[in-house]
Amino acid sequence: MSATGADPADVLIDDEKIVAVLEPGSSIAQAAAASAEIIDATGKYVIPGGVDVHTHMEVPFGATTSSDTFETGTIAAAWGGTTTIVDFATQTYGRQVRECLDEWHGKAEGNCAIDYGFHMIIGDVNNDSLREMDKLVDEGITSFKLFMAYPGVYLSDDRQILQAMQSCSNNGGLIMMHAENGIAIDLLAEQAAARGETDPINHGLVRRHELESEATHRAIKLAKVGAAPLYIVHLSASGALEEVARARNNGANVFAETCPQYLYLTLEDHLGAPGFEGAKYVCSTPLRSKHEHHQADLWTGLRTNDLSVVATDHCPFCFKDQKDAGVDDFRDIPNGIGGVEHRMDLIYQGVVTGEISIARWVELCSTTPARMFGLYPQKGTIQPGADADIVLYDPNASWSISVDNHHMNMDYSAYEGFAISGKVDTVMSRGEVIIANDQFHGASGRGKYIARGLTQYLM
Ligand code: URP
Ligand code: ZN
Ligand code: ZN
Repeated sequence: MSATGADPADVLIDDEKIVAVLEPGSSIAQAAAASAEIIDATGKYVIPGGVDVHTHMEVPFGATTSSDTFETGTIAAAWGGTTTIVDFATQTYGRQVRECLDEWHGKAEGNCAIDYGFHMIIGDVNNDSLREMDKLVDEGITSFKLFMAYPGVYLSDDRQILQAMQSCSNNGGLIMMHAENGIAIDLLAEQAAARGETDPINHGLVRRHELESEATHRAIKLAKVGAAPLYIVHLSASGALEEVARARNNGANVFAETCPQYLYLTLEDHLGAPGFEGAKYVCSTPLRSKHEHHQADLWTGLRTNDLSVVATDHCPFCFKDQKDAGVDDFRDIPNGIGGVEHRMDLIYQGVVTGEISIARWVELCSTTPARMFGLYPQKGTIQPGADADIVLYDPNASWSISVDNHHMNMDYSAYEGFAISGKVDTVMSRGEVIIANDQFHGASGRGKYIARGLTQYLM
């Protein structure tokens, strides 16, 4: 199974690489089988390992840190059929890019169970950061996330955004944008808190979808002026999608990702759950209202390619002792939802319900993220020369997601009780079986750092 469709095939692997994709029963396949170890994939889809290009392992948020380490988070990813992550090394305001990147290498090196790369969050765009970005592109960190939200922590103003875009126009880097108007949001949040509206649902009510569309629009226009390609992260709302679609229709190099939480969870049912339960679903951009048509529009965007990638924005926090920091004020709830383990399964449900084709599932979850972030054809495809990162997916299995069966370091699941048709059966990472027979056979530390190339969507 590939991004272009299904064909019965025998895949020949030598050591870490795919060396041939053969017609089953052909004389070469028979000759190869005589001396090879055989994994029988009859009745299963054989797909390239998932590529999740949006994770935050061990990232500080306020006074706490996301609860998955590179070890626990990459093991959980492997269970869910993801064999590569691209995590966000994070520069916070006032710190040097290089110092922060070194810190992220230190956290990840020797701990990952699957291969990994980094984007760099530039939380302080200044002349030093801009110089460092040029060097990072040469070192395989070829994408940079900027924030239009979180004033005083990460926010870049329009001047800084334009400067970073101009740099990427020259160095080939890809700007990834957190597109929400954080200055307006912070005002609305202060006003809500002053009125005593402190429950988790207010997180979503103040982060209005108009403020996502406005920022998306502004980012697109700045990218045009800066002559740089743009990738919008965690797009959640119809209006923002319209902005992306309009830009793309006009021929702009604008791309966007969405995440499973925006396709399945809602403001009312999840963020608005009784008591403090809604804190489990606090993330930014926020979950959107079920009374509007965001989810249907996002599925349409996934079909039309106005949304090119599904990533998780995996940023887990435990309910007890982490999310509860905001029990008196939604502004103190750490922002993020964990989901690195369930992306392949959740998006496969779109195949089951007829929202997307099976080839599109592979394209959204593996092939396009690999191409978008300079990992292809090492990752994201089953073809000679590619890493043997392969998932056998059983379309006939059924099960339910639960905190009791997941492997993420979280004390709850945002998808508790979700019925899943299909299941990851076997996972190979660079030719090694790391998941089989409901057991993890890999090891933390076997995952390698990947220096990425430039985005291949412009070539
Ligand atoms: O709530 C979220 N998304 N937390 C992670 C940081 C980000 O903005 O992606
Ligand atoms: Zn973000
Ligand atoms: Zn994120």
